[in-house]
Amino acid sequence: MSAKIIDGKQIAADIREELTTEVAALKEKGIVPGLGVVLVGADPASQSYVTAKERACEKIGIYSDDNRLPAETSQEDLLALVNQMNNDPKINGILVQLPLPKHIDEAAVLLAIDPDKDVDGFHPMNVGKMMVGEEAFLPCTPNGILQMLMRSGVETSGAHVVVVGRSNIVGKPVANMLLQKKEGANATVTLCHTRTKDLSFHTRQADIIIAASGWPNTVTADMVKEGVVVIDVGVNRVEDASRERGYRLVGDVDFEAVKEKASMITPVPGGVGPMTITMLLYNTVVSAKRANG
Ligand code: GUN
Repeated sequence: MSAKIIDGKQIAADIREELTTEVAALKEKGIVPGLGVVLVGADPASQSYVTAKERACEKIGIYSDDNRLPAETSQEDLLALVNQMNNDPKINGILVQLPLPKHIDEAAVLLAIDPDKDVDGFHPMNVGKMMVGEEAFLPCTPNGILQMLMRSGVETSGAHVVVVGRSNIVGKPVANMLLQKKEGANATVTLCHTRTKDLSFHTRQADIIIAASGWPNTVTADMVKEGVVVIDVGVNRVEDASRERGYRLVGDVDFEAVKEKASMITPVPGGVGPMTITMLLYNTVVSAKRANG
């Protein structure tokens, strides 16, 4: 069997079309959703994510306030900028790109963001609400994964989902969201990580695998059962002299081999990536609607 490819670009385009209509309707009422974006330093991957986020905003009619700060920026100056955006009525969502330089306390910065503008869903208030199943801003990559599964007709209720990777941005929240008692979730979840004793023992039992380890080839064909659904969150650069830029992007899954056993699989690029940005746009529109009653 060769897997059906879950086309993240297409699903993202469908949702963005829905959002474009919504943003146009808000504009008729004089409401323009606004996103404040902050990037500290010049990490190339972060730069390309932030540029993609800004372009996506522009395309659907969201105002974006772009702040690119030098790597030496002090924590105090960053907190002052966050505070300024907290109080700016034109800004409905605030995104501070992670990771931050080592001298800045990431937790302190996330805590400073107004939870009502926390469109990344990283503030402890939103994390806590998500955990107990209350309405909250949901983190974008996990929410994008749930949307992809839902829109591809994958049944999660009662399914055994194995998540590989326990990051605060993907692994922990996606595991939590999938075990919630609600439509599009209701899964039995196993969360694996670097100290898991026998990773393939777990992955071989999975109906759905979510690979978010940050390492190429974390999931290989011998580690999965026939018919598994595979969501690959990884974005890894591997050297490739045949490419103009000297590298190519691969996920955390051995795509070519695993797609022969899986029933559905996401590609890299063109899988989860476009969904993350789309859910950020979604959260920003939701925030603008809430702020305007
Ligand atoms: N770094 C990697 N992914 C993300 C994300 O979704 N949001 C932010 N703010 N930083 C990230």
